[in-house]
Formats: sequence, structure tokens, C-alpha cells
Amino acid sequence: MANEIKTIGVLTSGGDAPGMNAAIRAVVRQAIANGKKVKGIQRGYAGLLQEEIYDMEKQDVSDIIQRGGTILQTARCMEFTTPEGQQKGAEICKKHGIDGIIVIGGDGSFRGAQKLAGLGINTIGVPGTIDLDISCTDYTIGFDTAVNTAMEAIDKVRDTSTSHERCSIIEVMGRGAGYIALWCGISNGAEDVLLPEKYDYDEQRLVNNIIENRKRGKKHHIIINAEGIGHSTSMAKRIEAATGVETRATILGHMQRGGSPTAKDRMMASLMGAYAVDLLCEGKSNRVVASQGGCLVDYDIDEALAMTKTIDEYEFQICNNLSK
Ligand code: ADP
Ligand code: F6P
Repeated sequence: MANEIKTIGVLTSGGDAPGMNAAIRAVVRQAIANGKKVKGIQRGYAGLLQEEIYDMEKQDVSDIIQRGGTILQTARCMEFTTPEGQQKGAEICKKHGIDGIIVIGGDGSFRGAQKLAGLGINTIGVPGTIDLDISCTDYTIGFDTAVNTAMEAIDKVRDTSTSHERCSIIEVMGRGAGYIALWCGISNGAEDVLLPEKYDYDEQRLVNNIIENRKRGKKHHIIINAEGIGHSTSMAKRIEAATGVETRATILGHMQRGGSPTAKDRMMASLMGAYAVDLLCEGKSNRVVASQGGCLVDYDIDEALAMTKTIDEYEFQICNNLSK
């Protein structure tokens, strides 16, 4: 093959997600199994621009499949959003003999990968974000672990909320997307769930729900609030004033991004990482790995970035029906 890939670079970019290490491990071992060299790039595009690049062997990814975070570190890099930064990045890849690069991250990271592809470096994106907000794929690495972490934390808040007969507003991550909030809403049996995609800012409805539930004898009232709506602390003050029910806000924050990945995240990361290597070996570039209906597929990055997805209407309806 004229343009055969000999050396694959791998980096993690944007917010870390549990399972990224399993994906790195899969990339390294699948590439070596296919006779390729692997170079790890530290700290995402920032590390690429600083030439923080090192050779990776099979043993470099030993004992990481079970670990949260990313051994390659991750970063957000403004310089790489400029044409000059992207040109420099492509030149550094060529200097280090990197002819294919696998970018594990979210939409933003894929935009960077798209630019590198345009500059002659074969690139493949692997969806890694707890937010589940990448439109072309049913699954993103890290979501299952994050949602389980949040669910367990919310169960704990519920214990104390019930004991004190309080209302608790619990804010979960997700940036502009409400997937973690929706899953927690259903899995934790929350009384109200506020999703950025659906919220109508009708606080009187929340107040009425709390008062109604008190009359029915409910001892707690759990409101899951998505980060994309935010303002949980001020919302708690207003709700307490309007209902007379003691109300506390808990912002779960970055604990949702840490911890040992679940079996689902290890499995999906292993499959997606290996699939990305296979795509490069087939000579493909500017593609994103995706899971659709339980199968691995790949999309053109331009096409993938133009797609949209939103909250499933049926799941949202079920969430509301079951909270009553
Ligand atoms: P995520 O990949 O999780 O969506 P970000 O949106 O923070 O995270 O993007 C991660 C990094 O990807 C950014 O810090 C930047 O270096 C790079 N990036 C984002 N958007 C672009 C773009 N339009 N062009 C080039 N690089 C980009
Ligand atoms: O994209 C993952 C995520 O954790 C989002 O849910 C959140 O909005 C954001 O990253 C937080 O970013 P940072 O780590 O920069 O505070």
C-alpha cells in the first residue's frame, strides 16, 4: 500500500472520562498487533504543540484498564484552534513520523482532528466524554461510569434528605446536554428532573409539586438539575422561601468524572480504540468511531459534526410519569 500507516499517534483531549485509559490500551495493543509503532502524545493538542511525544510499547499500558482519568493527561488548548497552531501540529506529526493519529475526546477535539486531516495527517476520532452529547453515536466512553457515580451519590443525598424531610436540588454535569440528568432522574426516582433541552423555567410548577407531595406524605423531594440550567443554590433559596420546606443544593461536580470505569466503559473503550486502529490500517482518515444499535460504525467527521441529537421523547415522558 502506497500510503500505508507505519506510526500511530494517540492523544486524549477535552474533559477526561473513565474508560479513556482502556481506549489508550486498546489503541496501543491493536496497533502493535498489526505491526505498527505507537507514539503517545501527552496533554492533548497542547502536548502535541510542545512535542511531548514518546514511544509506547505494550507494557506501557499494563495495569491501566481499571483506572479512571487518562495516563496521557488531557488539556484544552486555545493555540490549536488557530490555523497557525494546526499547521504547527501537522508539521510536528510529520517530524515525529506520525502518519495516523487517534484523538479520544468530544466534539471539540474532533474539530481539531478534522483540521489535522485537512493538513494531510490521517485522523480518527474516538468518542470519549461523560456527557453523551456526540450526535453520531449512541454511546460515549465514560457515560456509564459517570451516571453510576452520580446515581450512587444521589441515593446518599436522598437518605439525609428523607431523614430531615427536606427538598434537595442535586446538580449533575453534562455541559449543555441533559443525558446524565435524565438517566439519574429515572434511576434515582427523582420527583423532578430539569433538562436544558426541555426546561421551561416554570419554578411555580416545582413549588406546586413540592407542596402537593408534602400533602401526600412524601418525606423528601429530589430535584435533579442539569449543569446546563445551573443556579442550583439560588434556586434552592427561592424554593425554600416559596414552599416553607427546608431546601439544600448539592453540586456533584468533578467527582462524576473520576473513578474506576464500569465493565460497559471498559468494553466500549476497548472495542472503539481497536476499531479506530483498524480504520487507520484500512487507509481511512477524517472518520469518527460510533456505536449505532449495538454495532460499531464510522462516520466522516464533517458529517458527524453536522448531526444533531436530542433527548428521547419517550424516555422523557416515562421519566415524568414515574416521578408522580
Ligand atoms: P471536547 O473535546 O470534550 O468537546 P473541548 O470542546 O474543550 O472538549 O475541545 C478540546 C480541544 O479541542 C480544545 O481545547 C482545542 O484544543 C481543540 N478544539 C476545539 N475546537 C476546535 C476547533 N474548532 N478547531 C481546532 N481545534 C479545536
Ligand atoms: O465535558 C465534560 C465536562 O465534565 C462537562 O460535563 C462539564 O461541563 C465540563 O466538562 C467541565 O469542565 P472543566 O473540567 O473544565 O471544569
